[in-house]
Amino acid sequence: MNNLLAFFSSSIGRKVLIAITGLLLVLFLIAHLIGNLLFFLGPDSLNSYAAALKGNPALLWSARIGLLTVFVLHLMNALALAMQNRAARGVQYQNKGYMAATAASRTMVITGLVVLLYVAYHLSHFTLGLTNPDHFSMHDAQGRHDVYGMILHGFQIPVVAWGYVAAMLVVAYHLSHGIQSSLQTFGLRNENYTPCVKQFSVFLALLLCLGFSSIPLAVQFGLVG
Ligand code: HEM
Repeated sequence: MNNLLAFFSSSIGRKVLIAITGLLLVLFLIAHLIGNLLFFLGPDSLNSYAAALKGNPALLWSARIGLLTVFVLHLMNALALAMQNRAARGVQYQNKGYMAATAASRTMVITGLVVLLYVAYHLSHFTLGLTNPDHFSMHDAQGRHDVYGMILHGFQIPVVAWGYVAAMLVVAYHLSHGIQSSLQTFGLRNENYTPCVKQFSVFLALLLCLGFSSIPLAVQFGLVG
């Protein structure tokens, strides 16, 4: 047990933990996107999907607690590793002609914190109903929580819709480096794999960005509702 704790407190252990939790969060995003795209099938599909998710509170709360744990572990270890690296470096580099580091890799802490702020707003908006309680309290004809109406009304507010699109760009930027870095931590790092891993990461990040952004954009351009 002590050995395991010592490993996960070392910088390689932290990197492994960040990689595992990062990939789990990407899996959550893929599942969340697939669920959200039911929006395009209309109110009945999305509302019955949301009602089914909430129909099993034990499962829902286990998943929520699991997701929160993964998110906190990812965040805390990423911040701890960034501080460890900074302390180990001691003095700042004189020559900032970064070799392998890309802009996305150098700004992971900043983009990560922006994603954290976005998630805090997103949960207040759609999960807790704090920002727009009037949208949150709607029910459909069958008496189910009207998740479709909540999203539609939310994204009819231009600043909300465009704010979401901007946040999705930051999420994609974070993931474009995060996915490849995680996969490389698991050993996909050599001349054969590295270019494919990079392309795959950028592709998946863009796909998630386009998928999520399609909803506020469709509402803003009057294609649904
Ligand atoms: C247009 C994009 C998105 C839409 C329309 C959307 C929609 C929703 C909705 C409706 C809920 C509440 C589900 C419910 O309680 O019935 C939710 C929950 C959540 N969303 Fe999103 N989401 C989007 C993007 C994202 C992104 C990019 C992230 C992460 C970076 C995210 C993270 C979460 C989390 C963590 C929850 C809480 C899950 C739970 O309540 O169990 N969402 N989202």
